[in-house]
Amino acid sequence: MGTQLKGKVAIVTGASNGIGRGIAEMFAAEGAKTVLAARRAGLLGEVAEGIKGRGGEALPVAADLTKEDAVVALFAATKAVYGRLDVLVNNAGIATHRNTEDISLDYWLDALAINITAPFLCSREAIRMMKAQTPPGGRIINVGSISAKTPRPDSLPYTTTKFGLQGMTHQLTMDGRKHNIVASIIHPGSTLSSFITRTGRTQAGPGDRPEDYVMTAADVARVAVLMASLPPEVNLYEATILPNHARSFIGRG
Ligand SMILES: NC(=O)c1ccc[n+]([C@@H]2O[C@H](COP(=O)([O-])OP(=O)(O)OC[C@H]3O[C@@H](n4cnc5c(N)ncnc54)[C@H](OP(=O)(O)O)[C@@H]3O)[C@@H](O)[C@H]2O)c1
Repeated sequence: MGTQLKGKVAIVTGASNGIGRGIAEMFAAEGAKTVLAARRAGLLGEVAEGIKGRGGEALPVAADLTKEDAVVALFAATKAVYGRLDVLVNNAGIATHRNTEDISLDYWLDALAINITAPFLCSREAIRMMKAQTPPGGRIINVGSISAKTPRPDSLPYTTTKFGLQGMTHQLTMDGRKHNIVASIIHPGSTLSSFITRTGRTQAGPGDRPEDYVMTAADVARVAVLMASLPPEVNLYEATILPNHARSFIGRG
């Protein structure tokens, strides 16, 4: 067990799979009391048992984070069990893959609900808790995407929400100052999760070509731990972490 986050209380959304699970597991391994939020209670329970089996602390809370009452209940459960909140990781999100002219209003609204409204609701509840606790303050870490910089084809809702999350981070950083609340954003590139397994890849690491490299959730989690462990006066505001050969992001050739 490490000690970089010893004693901190953290909520990680989307902790049932992929990047969120990786962040929750590494936070717990660094000593955080980790609240795991997502819809699939069975998977959350497995992640929590794994954390506890390695000597960590975890509280699984099944929640559809697009629902206001579920978000309020998540933060109430955190307060009831741990008494405070030091770090919120807004990680839960979905990808979209559809030509713009084929996007229904429901498809659009579903992406906004989890990629934008859920981080808003969670951030609002986090601020309410963080400003009222002793000592006041905390951190909000958003999981964006390299799509907040360079879009993929046919992903208008995803790109729009990830650009929006960048704006939300900027606003939260500024408005959080008066409460000692620090906000930052991680932009991952290709990372093993349901985003990648849907393409048939089941393993992180090298693929057939240099540009097919897929990162592990732990690679991204290391950045989240670094952000969360800095002194409260210091902000690693934005981090882009991606496979070095991700050709279409940095440039041609
Ligand atoms: N993987 C990549 O290559 C990549 C690259 C850039 C950015 N990202 C970002 O990384 C974040 C995590 O995605 P991932 O790649 O790890 O994908 P993932 O494996 O599909 O994980 C998504 C997580 O979000 C949760 N979630 C989805 N809808 C939810 C809802 N309504 N309420 C509560 N939880 C919900 C899912 O849990 P339940 O289904 O159990 O609710 C799951 O735990 C996303 O914000 C994504 O945009 C991923």
